[in-house]
Amino acid sequence: MAPESKTLFEQFLVPILSHLVDRDALLRLRDSIDWEVGVTEFTNPQVVYPNYYKTSNFHGIKNGYLNVDAALTYDAITQYVLPPGENWVRESLVKAIGGQPRRILDLGCGTGTTTLMLKRHFPNAEVVGLDLSPQMLVMADYKAHAATVDVTFRHGNAMATGLPAASFDVVCAALLFHETPPAVAKTILSEAYRLLTPGGQMLVLDGNQRTLRASDWLSTIFEEPFIRDYGQGNVDAWLGYAGFEKVRTEDVFWLNQLSRGRKPLPVAERIGQPEGDRQSADLPLAQPA
Ligand SMILES: C[S@@+](CC[C@H](N)C(=O)[O-])C[C@H]1O[C@@H](n2cnc3c(N)ncnc32)[C@H](O)[C@@H]1O
Repeated sequence: MAPESKTLFEQFLVPILSHLVDRDALLRLRDSIDWEVGVTEFTNPQVVYPNYYKTSNFHGIKNGYLNVDAALTYDAITQYVLPPGENWVRESLVKAIGGQPRRILDLGCGTGTTTLMLKRHFPNAEVVGLDLSPQMLVMADYKAHAATVDVTFRHGNAMATGLPAASFDVVCAALLFHETPPAVAKTILSEAYRLLTPGGQMLVLDGNQRTLRASDWLSTIFEEPFIRDYGQGNVDAWLGYAGFEKVRTEDVFWLNQLSRGRKPLPVAERIGQPEGDRQSADLPLAQPA
């Protein structure tokens, strides 16, 4: 039988990253967590995994995010793929939030890096991270405890969270949509719209779609199953389609972009608002009764 040819990810990125990653530290981390207990505790048996999620290999890892290796290596690798720096890129999202939100939801929170930043930036807010992978949630929860940051992590599908309508002032999705088919991204935005209070803010931090279109080799190197479809799409248009207003996208360096939109206020409340508030999505939140 002919040997399976190596993917570009395996040929080029894995050798480079394996030099940068501290294997011993990762092994120590793996051994310091009781994954079996953690995964059982986080798993919500009601959650149904969508097909795209079960059948795709993300980051070249078989079984995508439903395994310990993905959760263990995610942070170690991600720090090298967010130029000019992971913190700076993530802070672009956190700093774009206007006002003092009371409840913030981080969809597809993964290992919770942005979720923790949100709580540190808004210590009085209740911050919830939601993800489909119990393993990623175990890692996120471990980080939150180690840092004594009080956030809640939930196992769930961002397309249908089961959370009450109008229960969050801010909903975010960081690095989620380049890993979902565009139809799923649109469904997630509709769900986010439902979850937001009127005047609530939606923020999407992800790969820069213009750059991805102009530099096809990036999609080849990263080998994410839906990244080409994502690059051909337009998050602004998806936000508009979901019902958001004041939609805009700005570059975050060269490789990423931040998109935002606002859930419209009911007409009666808009009339009472100063003109300035009606024009920018990053001004303080309206506080519904
Ligand atoms: C590239 S990671 C991003 C993680 C994190 N937001 C970050 O910025 O590092 C994508 C995450 O989205 C999660 N995910 C993918 N589809 C999802 C869905 N429909 N609902 C909830 N989480 C999802 C994956 O399990 C994974 O943890």
